[in-house]
Amino acid sequence: MKLISSACSVVRIPSLYASLYRPICSASLSSSPSSLKPTTPLFLRPPRFSTSISDLHKWHHWAKNLASSVGASFVQLDNGPDSTSLRRELRWLLEDSLEDPSLIYQLGSQNYAMDVRLKAPLDELYVLWRQRIEERRPFQYIVGCEHWRDLVLSVQEGVLIPRPETELIVDLVKDVALASGESKEGLWADLGTGSGAIAIGIGRILGSKGKVIATDLSPVALAVATYNVLRYGLQDMIEVRKGSWFEPLKDVEGKLAGVVSNPPYIPSDDISGLQAEVGQHEPRLALDGGVSGMDDLLHLCNGVLSMLKPGGFFVFETNGEKQCKVLVDYMENNNPGKFFNVNIVSDFAGIQRFVTGFINNKSS
Ligand SMILES: C[S@@+](CC[C@H](N)C(=O)[O-])C[C@H]1O[C@@H](n2cnc3c(N)ncnc32)[C@H](O)[C@@H]1O
Repeated sequence: MKLISSACSVVRIPSLYASLYRPICSASLSSSPSSLKPTTPLFLRPPRFSTSISDLHKWHHWAKNLASSVGASFVQLDNGPDSTSLRRELRWLLEDSLEDPSLIYQLGSQNYAMDVRLKAPLDELYVLWRQRIEERRPFQYIVGCEHWRDLVLSVQEGVLIPRPETELIVDLVKDVALASGESKEGLWADLGTGSGAIAIGIGRILGSKGKVIATDLSPVALAVATYNVLRYGLQDMIEVRKGSWFEPLKDVEGKLAGVVSNPPYIPSDDISGLQAEVGQHEPRLALDGGVSGMDDLLHLCNGVLSMLKPGGFFVFETNGEKQCKVLVDYMENNNPGKFFNVNIVSDFAGIQRFVTGFINNKSS
């Protein structure tokens, strides 16, 4: 898994994906699965603080120097970010922090007496940038969000930062849903929902009668997913449930039109060698797939047989070619005739990443 840098400001979002700066929904889920209160992303906070442009300039100068001091050392250490990408992140942090991001262009100006309004106190910006460089705290946790498809999702420690390769799962579901009204209006499950990214992506393409159940074991993930679902106004369509894999879905056994999951799939021994931002900061529960990385994938593969209705569709994300092949072999050899149209699908980088398929009619 690579850590992809991006952050939360209109100006850096590709034009294809217009940003959704919707107000946070004031409603709350009556059956909220967690009492944890998620952190509000920096860009959504009110500009309650102020500082002089001169002090902000000093901070920026210090922060740029700290980023430059990194050079290529993180790249050499664990393929981490170089100083160019860190300086880019610094700019994004500034954009998210300022009430008026266009003031960035006045930072070096002589108008030193002018005050600027900030969404975090200047002292906190010093702390945050130190954490970014000295502790390798992921940028997305610093600003509290990640851009994913056309969404801006809240993320924080305890929740996996959704990755760009996972975006394709929504397109794979879209193809199936467009081809079949039954799928479009049916019940779907996103298992191990994390920030709720896939569930929200799918929720936005299903028809008016379509529903998604998003499950996770982590209380932080459940709280953050709930927050994101509310922010996109999808609380009538997406239900967030706590529990391990299929365990919270007993009431819908054999009724699901589709199951999607990006489960933990990193082999346990590989975790210590991951980029520090990932291995030291992202939740182990989201990464560790057991000795071969396949524990959860195989469990999901067995589970869909009873959870999906005949003709139901599944997509599983994997670590790459080897895991895809093991999974397909497992389906063919351990459960002959039960799956059909099983395919390996590559991600945008050309890496074999997903296994997709359908469940045969139970009588076959
Ligand atoms: C790789 S992350 C994927 C998160 C999100 N779906 C995404 O793509 O960004 C795996 C997720 O599975 C969850 N998880 C791990 N073990 C689980 C289990 N036994 N039951 C349900 N969820 C689990 C983790 O908490 C984490 O949110």
